Amino acid sequence: MSTPWVYVTRQLHFNAAHRLFNPAFSDEKNDRVFGKCNNVNGHGHNYEIEITVFGPVDPETGYVIDLKEIKDLAEEVIIQDCDHRHLNLDVPWLRGINPTAENLVIAFWNRLNPHFTSAKLFNIRLYETPRNFVDYRGPHAG
Ligand code: NI
Repeated sequence: MSTPWVYVTRQLHFNAAHRLFNPAFSDEKNDRVFGKCNNVNGHGHNYEIEITVFGPVDPETGYVIDLKEIKDLAEEVIIQDCDHRHLNLDVPWLRGINPTAENLVIAFWNRLNPHFTSAKLFNIRLYETPRNFVDYRGPHAG
């Protein structure tokens, strides 16, 4: 008999400013590629993160993981550094990274993943706006 694995998700929120640009591009090209996200002094987004882990259901608790564990961990390694900050300037572990949703979700994965042991990180979804979001499932994952 196979063990049933379940996927559980915790959603978190933070507000932050960013500026998208590539220092190798001309001002004109940065403006063309990144549009209003290239505003020199940055601009804000209301980010939502959905963190999904999977694993067997513990027969004693009925949980894959206590969702509060995901919340506490994400707050410690991501949210408290990013919330109400300028992502280009204020977050040491994002230095030198063009803070697109794609690059942010990879950085968030790399911060979170080492902390999961029994339950495994499956997906991180990052919403930059209610209609624009990215998913990351780790290197090489389909
Ligand atoms: Ni933006």
